[in-house]
Amino acid sequence: MRQQTLTLLSCRSLNASVYELILAGAEEMRAGQFVELSVPGFYLRRPISVADSEEGRLTLLVKEVGEGTKKLCTLQEGARLDVLTSLGRGFDLSARSPLLVGGGIGCAPLYKLAKDFVAAGVRPRAVLGFRNAEEIYYAEEFARYCDVTVATDDGSRGVKGNAVSVAEGIPHDRFYACGPQIMLRAAAQKLGEGEVSLEARMGCGFGACMGCSIVTVNGYARVCKEGPVFDAKEVVW
Ligand SMILES: Cc1cc2nc3c(=O)[nH]c(=O)nc-3n(C[C@H](O)[C@H](O)[C@H](O)COP(=O)(O)OP(=O)(O)OC[C@H]3O[C@@H](n4cnc5c(N)ncnc54)[C@H](O)[C@@H]3O)c2cc1C
Ligand code: FES
Repeated sequence: MRQQTLTLLSCRSLNASVYELILAGAEEMRAGQFVELSVPGFYLRRPISVADSEEGRLTLLVKEVGEGTKKLCTLQEGARLDVLTSLGRGFDLSARSPLLVGGGIGCAPLYKLAKDFVAAGVRPRAVLGFRNAEEIYYAEEFARYCDVTVATDDGSRGVKGNAVSVAEGIPHDRFYACGPQIMLRAAAQKLGEGEVSLEARMGCGFGACMGCSIVTVNGYARVCKEGPVFDAKEVVW
């Protein structure tokens, strides 16, 4: 973990509620790690996944859900942000035939994972699940690095259905999933060996307060420290 001051280079809207923020000055981070941003006017930092990290530029994909994320997404270019970087454990890139499965804003950390697989000589497949066509973001960006299938719950774009049911039909040796808890549980039950990136309400973000603990087959684990990426079979769903 490092405490860094990063400069907001750009903030662009990707759909009605998701924004891409690019920040300068960050150390290189692994796919699956996250940062804790201090949002002006808010006491607790907000955890956001690394969507991309390259040459000092950190990309975050942020969904407005409450006041903190709303404030983040309206910051002006040039804003300076106090950020804890390189938090948590990243994904393991051992798969030879990886399948990335994202749901909604959970697609965010899978983008860097896709790039890292390609850099390692493996082109992954990806299923990106959204509620409807309006909520889709980054599908074209993913398509540069993966064979992408878009799934929507209402069938307004791509394949009709949820991400896990679509993923079941795609050959893979290991899956990597991020999204709502119900989707991750289904992935763990139906997709074989794999890893899930979990979310939890966080206090400190670096292992000190125990506020983000979950139950695993090996006892309690902190999502911020032992996770947020866990082996799917380790989590007690
Ligand atoms: C490891 C990790 C990685 C994350 N990565 C991303 C990301 O890449 N992009 C992104 O947009 N969001 C991400 N989140 C979720 C993000 O941290 C929360 O949406 C944000 O903190 C909410 O702040 P707020 O002030 O806007 O909302 P609040 O006012 O605090 O809450 C608004 C609503 O959001 C819900 N909420 C708040 N925090 C969480 C949370 N941690 N998990 C689930 N629901 C929550 C609340 O229950 C409430 O319904 C991540 C969370 C974790 C733990
Ligand atoms: S948020 Fe404090 S231990 Fe995880």
